[in-house]
Amino acid sequence: MHLSRLSLANLRNLHPARLAFDPRLNLIVGPNASGKTSLLEAIYLLGRAQSFRTSHPRPLIQSGQSALTVSGCLLVDGREHRLGIGFEGVRRRLRLDGRELDARAELLRLMPVRIIDPTLYDLPETSPHRRRRFLDWGVFYFDPDYLPAWRAYRRALQQRNAALKAGDAEGAALWGQSLGKYGKMVSRSRQRYLQVFAARLAPLAEKLGLGKEAGIRYLPGWRADADLDTVLREDLPRDLRHGCTHSGPHRDDFRIAIEGHDVRQRLSRGQMKLLAHALISIQGTLLERPGILLIDDLASELDQENQALLSELSVQTQEQIFITATRPAALTALTSHPHRMFHVEHGRISPAEP
Ligand SMILES: Nc1ncnc2c1ncn2[C@@H]1O[C@H](COP(=O)(O)OP(=O)(O)OP(=O)(O)O)[C@@H](O)[C@H]1O
Ligand SMILES: [Mg+2]
Repeated sequence: MHLSRLSLANLRNLHPARLAFDPRLNLIVGPNASGKTSLLEAIYLLGRAQSFRTSHPRPLIQSGQSALTVSGCLLVDGREHRLGIGFEGVRRRLRLDGRELDARAELLRLMPVRIIDPTLYDLPETSPHRRRRFLDWGVFYFDPDYLPAWRAYRRALQQRNAALKAGDAEGAALWGQSLGKYGKMVSRSRQRYLQVFAARLAPLAEKLGLGKEAGIRYLPGWRADADLDTVLREDLPRDLRHGCTHSGPHRDDFRIAIEGHDVRQRLSRGQMKLLAHALISIQGTLLERPGILLIDDLASELDQENQALLSELSVQTQEQIFITATRPAALTALTSHPHRMFHVEHGRISPAEP
């Protein structure tokens, strides 16, 4: 699977562009504020229908303009798909092969895209919400039954919370039964995923010099010594007092440890970046088919040895890769592989002469 072409207009500082990409490796070089991250953002928007930098569309639209568009051609198992996304003010429009889409699940399924950027280095220490998002994205591709269970869980949670707020104990108890049923399905899928994930993390973390015996511990969002149905029943009086559901997978979390130590207390900033690469690489190996990997500013915070190590790790995957750097020297280790190079300057993207 790879993105063969991309067109964009009115995205951040970028000039309108039509680009053809290498199926495997694309290197993007330009000074600070030239528009490199914005180009990655364009690719990310196509597959995820939202940015990794903002949850509001307004900052994405070029100053002075009212709408932006990004479209592209995706080759999946030899078949070409046309994808498009537009924002007009806050209104989002998604298109796939000439059809207008209401929801983004179909796009997500077709074009799995991930980014490694500085916000990811904080994953072990940031809010549980972001770790759950990381987890959900991976499990979505890993387990085809996950999305319906997750949606049913979310619905039951909303309904139970509405009943709790209204002081409707009977309604809350009834929705609690659905919550328990789907909650256990969601939790089982997440656990299975993390088990496979952890088995792959240990050897990779060791290879990256982070230490032996890396592991991931799943932390369910309810008392570990009790069944979710029981907990929901027992919680009911307290939940009614507060008007919200205290227990369930919407409170799930996970911890990463190396040699028995929580990585939050153990790793340096550079090592956190290596760990982030490891996590995202493993996510890639657990997709149905290779996806698209965006790496923003590969070189920053890493010494030369680790830059080379990560460069090698990245090209070993079967994924289509887009890597940015402020200096061409940071990408030297990669230029021995077949690639296409792009220069970005003041928002203008130009392919380098072969
Ligand atoms: N809506 C917008 N309209 C116009 N320009 C914008 C908009 N949003 C951001 N910019 C500008 O776009 C420029 C490019 O930003 P971008 O983050 O893509 O740069 P970059 O090449 O990744 O830089 P760095 O190397 O510092 O990470 C910045 O100067 C930014 O201020
Ligand atoms: Mg940038």
